[in-house]
Amino acid sequence: MKYLKIIGQKPLSGEVAISGAKNAALPLLAATILAKNTVSIDNLPNVVDINTLLKLLEMLGSSFEKISNNSIKITTASINETKATYDIVKTMRASILVLGPLLSRFGHCEVSLPGGCAIGQRPVDLHLKALEQMGAIIEIKAGYILATAPNGLKGATIVFDKITVTGTENIVMAAALAHGTTKIINAAKEPEVVQLCEVLKAAGLNIKGIGSDEIEIVGTAQKLLEFKDFTIIPDRIEAGTYLCAGAICNTKLTITHVMPNHMDAVLSKLEEMGFTIEKTKNTITILPTQKIKPINLTTTEYPGFPTDMQAQFMALATQAHGVSIVDENLFENRYMHVNELLRMGADITLKGHTASITGTPNALTGTDVMATDLRASSALVLAGLVAKGETNIHRIYHLDRGYEQLEEKLLGIGACVARYEE
Ligand code: EPZ
Repeated sequence: MKYLKIIGQKPLSGEVAISGAKNAALPLLAATILAKNTVSIDNLPNVVDINTLLKLLEMLGSSFEKISNNSIKITTASINETKATYDIVKTMRASILVLGPLLSRFGHCEVSLPGGCAIGQRPVDLHLKALEQMGAIIEIKAGYILATAPNGLKGATIVFDKITVTGTENIVMAAALAHGTTKIINAAKEPEVVQLCEVLKAAGLNIKGIGSDEIEIVGTAQKLLEFKDFTIIPDRIEAGTYLCAGAICNTKLTITHVMPNHMDAVLSKLEEMGFTIEKTKNTITILPTQKIKPINLTTTEYPGFPTDMQAQFMALATQAHGVSIVDENLFENRYMHVNELLRMGADITLKGHTASITGTPNALTGTDVMATDLRASSALVLAGLVAKGETNIHRIYHLDRGYEQLEEKLLGIGACVARYEE
């Protein structure tokens, strides 16, 4: 296994180009199952999760051509299999996103139940309940979801008890080829959900309420859609992570190829901590502050503060002068980074889903730490950038799932980082 060695306290400066959003690309790749034509996709992040989903689509019978590191042409007309097997789904639970499109197009599919993961049990009950309301017969057998809808899915009014990002995406895709109209109430409004809806609308789907919590879709009655080429939106979480790199080292840093209007909650929290934020159409610059102020964070659905930025801000809070409070409301176990930060000398106490971080500016020391999930690992990278001495982050395969060219981007802004074999 590989680990990342970081020598801390190097002065960072310069620019980082942000990649396409993993969490936009995943539902959009699944949505190509609804296409009659070959689809060109640009700004695809070259990360493990994307390559895993491409492998799954290929196993189902799709074919794709890599035009460059970050662009492909994909054809799914050739799909002749509707079983997503455990060996691939266990490596990436977002594979559940093929369930809606496969069922809507073919009237049957088998998808391995995605396991939980480090951050929580991650059930998919809301996805399944909604599909049943659309006429699907769902059976769980030997760890698989067996879904059938012999005459196709039918439109229905779906009220989600909880706001679910991939749940909304799955039902939007299921509704696209359904017979009749589907209304989704309490839909997720993340930019990644919005882009999925926009790409389907450009492909001719009659869809209203994009970006709101109420989406209405008139299904095509299993007629495939003619997709237009599209470019994946920037990754607002990768962008936030690199802004936190500038913040934790309290230095000026610019990120490019971003959409600042996707990041209001994160940018306002950085300003609350004392940093100055300068924005242009697709760049953001963070400027240092005299003294980093503590912060109170409550994670919630978009446009609120994103749970995917909670770990990174907890690392940043170790450098604040005062006590910060973090309230994680979306996942029941998204504090796996706390123990590792404690080993670096952070002063954090947990009480239920609330963490309090007593800032210890410049007091972190490098040591061996273990990555446990994608965003927790990025918090350890941030802590390593500001810690005295060497930090070795083990199990960095977690990082490779969602951060493209991590070392190259960090080296490009002056960090001292390298990957080694255990
Ligand atoms: C998406 O996960 C993201 N993944 C996650 O990013 C992100 O943390 C999460 O949304 C919240 O923003 C992708 O988009 C691929 P949810 P998702 O369904 O859709 C509960 C990352 O780091 N729930 O919105 O799986 C669930 O347990 C990843 O990139 C049910 O109870 O999250 C959670 O408490 C991590 N039943 C809450 O809803 C269901 O059927 C929100 O989950 C579905 C969800």
